[in-house]
Amino acid sequence: MPKRVLVTEPIIPSVIDTLKKHFEVDVGERGTYNNEQALVEDIPRYHALLPMLSNPVTEEVFRAGQRLQIVANHAVGYNNIDLEAAHRNRVHVANTPGVLTESCAEFTLGLMLAVSRRLYEAQEFLLEGNFDGWDPLGFLGMELRGSTLGIVGMGRIGQAVAKRARAMGMEILYHNRSRLPTDIEKRFEAGYCAGIESLARKADILTLHCPLTEETTHLIDGNILSLMKEEALLINTSRGPVVDEAALAHALHEGTIGGAGIDVFEKEPEVHPRLQTAPHCLLTPHIASASHKTRKDIGMLAANAVIGILQGKSPSEIPNLIQP
Ligand code: GLV
Ligand code: GLV
Repeated sequence: MPKRVLVTEPIIPSVIDTLKKHFEVDVGERGTYNNEQALVEDIPRYHALLPMLSNPVTEEVFRAGQRLQIVANHAVGYNNIDLEAAHRNRVHVANTPGVLTESCAEFTLGLMLAVSRRLYEAQEFLLEGNFDGWDPLGFLGMELRGSTLGIVGMGRIGQAVAKRARAMGMEILYHNRSRLPTDIEKRFEAGYCAGIESLARKADILTLHCPLTEETTHLIDGNILSLMKEEALLINTSRGPVVDEAALAHALHEGTIGGAGIDVFEKEPEVHPRLQTAPHCLLTPHIASASHKTRKDIGMLAANAVIGILQGKSPSEIPNLIQP
């Protein structure tokens, strides 16, 4: 009997084809597994689960998954998976580090440029028929060159953003759980801020690249927002709950910060209504990793972990397993 794999939503077809060479594969309909109950009901039939970041893989799911050997998340962030429950139930967990670093960093730069130079507002202005010729005072924005980028979370993605920001002539400051080795700081000429408060005070653009944990939930709250400069921009391509969305909406409406580029939301797919009407705010639907190449690489990396574990490889041969 071939082993059975559940991929919770349609992903890049060549990834599914690869899995089908080895296993019986079911692909869920989009959104079906966004609740725990649906997973609990179906999981007993499967040896491997390839979930999306929108699927809650909880203690109940692991308990119900009597045959389950591996959960390979189709994402680098794995806050949707109860890791301790996985380990208690002896199920391996994999994520997809590395393969989306560049696309996420490129997208972050895109948001920084789009918000600082007000591209979205400018297009709206033009399409509404307001363009009456070149305006010496029209759509003045912030120049990246010479401004200070504050990076929260200096892992792979944070560093890839730093590299690009240096090329744009920005100064780099960062905050991280632990300070980076001197050679890495030197590479980006990056200054360390031990406290998030001092980073918020100094940054012209604050960009978030930390994982979502208990410590980082609402890390950017009303207090931190109130410390930011009046022209400063907030960029979030990490996880929505890192930012207190209501507080951000308030800061934008009050004009106490300059603008925001937001790709992730506290209660996806909901977007706080006050954020939807906030000025100088570009909102995108969680697409920082959405390049053709990266989405295929994410799928393949997750699929290869499934193939490795179900074919009995030693966990040490599978580079993207998350260690207990
Ligand atoms: C996307 O948000 C990811 O974590 O891969
Ligand atoms: C993701 O790849 C990160 O660790 O920054």
